[in-house]
Amino acid sequence: MSSASIRIDALYKDFTTHGSGSTWRALENVNLRVAPGEFVTILGPSGCGKSTLLNALSGLDADYQGRVAIERNGVLDEKARVAYLFQEPRLLQWLTVRRNVEFALDAVGFPKSEWADRADKWINLVGLKGFADFYPLQLSGGMQQRAAIARAFAIEPEVLLMDEPFSALDELTARRMRQELLSLWEADRRTVLFVTHNSLEAVYLSDRILIMKKGPGSHVCDEVVLAHLQRPRIYEDPAQVESQKDVLQRLIRHVS
Ligand SMILES: Nc1ncnc2c1ncn2[C@@H]1O[C@H](COP(=O)(O)OP(=O)(O)O)[C@@H](O)[C@H]1O
Ligand SMILES: [Mg+2]
Repeated sequence: MSSASIRIDALYKDFTTHGSGSTWRALENVNLRVAPGEFVTILGPSGCGKSTLLNALSGLDADYQGRVAIERNGVLDEKARVAYLFQEPRLLQWLTVRRNVEFALDAVGFPKSEWADRADKWINLVGLKGFADFYPLQLSGGMQQRAAIARAFAIEPEVLLMDEPFSALDELTARRMRQELLSLWEADRRTVLFVTHNSLEAVYLSDRILIMKKGPGSHVCDEVVLAHLQRPRIYEDPAQVESQKDVLQRLIRHVS
């Protein structure tokens, strides 16, 4: 199990529109924790600030107020390995699937002698056996997203940040990918902060759901703990269907 945890205290983020100079408060006093090995999902409507939050947490955006941290035993750990998976695969188009994974392995310092084995292992695990030497544009959108997942897991991240990674896929492919994500996650329980606008997906995946309301001044306004749902999860399980209804109702209440 990952020993890294996520902690966000009093996060504020303002966007200033150049030209007009007007300010949009995207995030206002966001506070959250993700325990080591926990799968937490942020659920909220489009535009509520989910990507803004992950950008701050990942370090892509350093222009915010408040504190975001990956911690180990309650102490800031700046060296913790974090993988960030986006809604689009964001593969390097001029490199094959294998080279895309190896590029990430190189970037985090794995020795070259291990690249081929590690890349093959994860390419096979995400179901792309036989496609390692294909270029991204030779693959379907779903296959490209699998390659991006292989790249994310291959670096053995302690923390996974996932921004609506399945929302561009058709529902059947998305279901298969969620199932595969959970089996990869259950093998070694990395700490996951997942983001979605889909309440069904949130209930299927998570230990805990944090609901964000629409901005301006968006923040976590509700929490649903799903510890009572057994894994592996089944969409039709009555307890899970009950939770889906509950979460959807809360979401509607906070959005309207
Ligand atoms: N670069 C930017 N400049 C100005 N406003 C932005 C920028 N990025 C996001 N926003 C605004 O911040 C809010 C949150 O956006 P975002 O985090 O992308 O939402 P989500 O990921 O939940 O759909 C939205 O109202 C969006 O218009
Ligand atoms: Mg977004």
